[in-house]
Amino acid sequence: YEYDLLVVGSANADLVIGVERRPGAGETVLGTDLALHPGGKGANQAVAAARLGARTALLARVGDDAHGTLLLDSQRAAGVDTAGVLVGGAPTGVALITVDPSGDNSIVVSPGANGRLTPDDVRAAAPLLGSARVVSAQLEIPLETVEEVVRTLPAGSRFVLNPSPPRPLPPAVLAACDPLIVNEHEARVLLGADAGDTPGRWAEALLALGPRSVVVTLGGEGALVADSAGAVLVPAVRVDAVDTTGAGDSFTAALAWRLGAGERLADAAAYAARVGAVAVTREGAQASFPTAEEVAAL
Ligand code: RIB
Ligand code: NA
Repeated sequence: YEYDLLVVGSANADLVIGVERRPGAGETVLGTDLALHPGGKGANQAVAAARLGARTALLARVGDDAHGTLLLDSQRAAGVDTAGVLVGGAPTGVALITVDPSGDNSIVVSPGANGRLTPDDVRAAAPLLGSARVVSAQLEIPLETVEEVVRTLPAGSRFVLNPSPPRPLPPAVLAACDPLIVNEHEARVLLGADAGDTPGRWAEALLALGPRSVVVTLGGEGALVADSAGAVLVPAVRVDAVDTTGAGDSFTAALAWRLGAGERLADAAAYAARVGAVAVTREGAQASFPTAEEVAAL
């Protein structure tokens, strides 16, 4: 394989404001100066993997505009192969983000060019899909595009999905996931009314939907990993959170990369938890992702 990881997904310009607390409906609050960062769940995953040392490529779409340039520059600086990044069709996606004093964020995404990454674009990129050991996706691009990724994947390559933002998934997409990576909110959307109340239940019920493995991320409680061999709780690494934006993306990227390298699910998740832990101690998404040396030093 030419690449350890191909990420198919979104690239957004993140417009970030720090707030003491989030406004309610009809309310105005003052925040910090505006920060502009390269982001998007797909672009974040690609940068996270490349910074760890994975040979990484990105299949995405950005606008022919300054935000698109910001995103391409940040991918290239991290060492990501951007030959698969398409330009034009709509403005670059934008994420409006508020970060509160505990480091938690709220995000609204305007998909822009991400919404124009089509099944045709995936078919045209079939050689790229065939040259990666692991392919990962998220849901800030059209679901039809993710379905086409699953159809186009050659036998023997591994598919990892973080269904964020969540929506119900077709059986063929669920069956391809190894693993499906969800937080509590995403698990509840996928499982509907009778989701149950414990991570163990969610993992069991999600496995019954077809994925070969499942990872339920639990924030400060760590992550529950589950496959046909059973479920294991991987503890979180305790750190003081500054900005959690993108930490989940770095977790997913690190997990996908280590799985491709042949690690067991629980070991890959333990490594990924360390990567995510470093990311939450620094501001921004991509700017906060660690090198392998920084993970080792944690
Ligand atoms: O997961 C964090 C990311 O979500 C941000 O970078 C933002 O662009 C949204 O896609
Ligand atoms: Na961060």
